[in-house]
Amino acid sequence: MDAMECIKTRRSVRHFTDRELTRETLDEIVSAASYAPSWKNSQTARWNIITDKELLKNISETAVMSFSKNGATIAECAALAVESTVTGIAGFEPDGSYTTPAMGDRWEMYDAGIAAQTFCLAAHTMGVGSVIMGIVDFDRLHSLLGLPENEKVSAAIALGYYSYEPKMPPRRSPGEIARFF
Ligand SMILES: Cc1cc2nc3c(=O)[nH]c(=O)nc-3n(C[C@H](O)[C@H](O)[C@H](O)COP(=O)(O)O)c2cc1C
Repeated sequence: MDAMECIKTRRSVRHFTDRELTRETLDEIVSAASYAPSWKNSQTARWNIITDKELLKNISETAVMSFSKNGATIAECAALAVESTVTGIAGFEPDGSYTTPAMGDRWEMYDAGIAAQTFCLAAHTMGVGSVIMGIVDFDRLHSLLGLPENEKVSAAIALGYYSYEPKMPPRRSPGEIARFF
């Protein structure tokens, strides 16, 4: 699959078969995500990957802010990648001030988003479906996984093999989203 096809055919996948993901496959997806660009190559994204069924069940029941659709997706997935970021680096000068005050610390989330999309595109090339989930309980995930104090949860990505063909939600045309000067 070439890059353009990969970008256009990736879909958010919310229902999965029972097929498990091997450690080799997960390692390859994480490795591909490390190729994402980041602020001064700071590479602050971290991947906390859960395949333990009991833990997945716990998260599906207690860390989805009562959004039951995400609970169902997590209960069905083969793996959940909780993305976290090391704080205080992306967008910061060595003395702790912001490099671009207008952006503050938001470069950290910018980098997290690029890494997440790279992760999902890599998964897609390997036939693995994914969905980025923002409606999750960040504090609960942080404490459940015992993440370091200097890391912040940015999203959770459910992974697994497709059990259906997801439809593409409509996209805006270039004329709607671009201005040419
Ligand atoms: C930051 C972000 C948060 C999202 N949160 C959720 C979520 O909580 N649950 C969900 O099912 N999908 C979630 N999505 C997936 C979007 O709904 C999906 O990307 C969008 O509808 C376009 O569909 P597509 O990914 O198949 O192209 C999220 C996507 C992004 C980028």
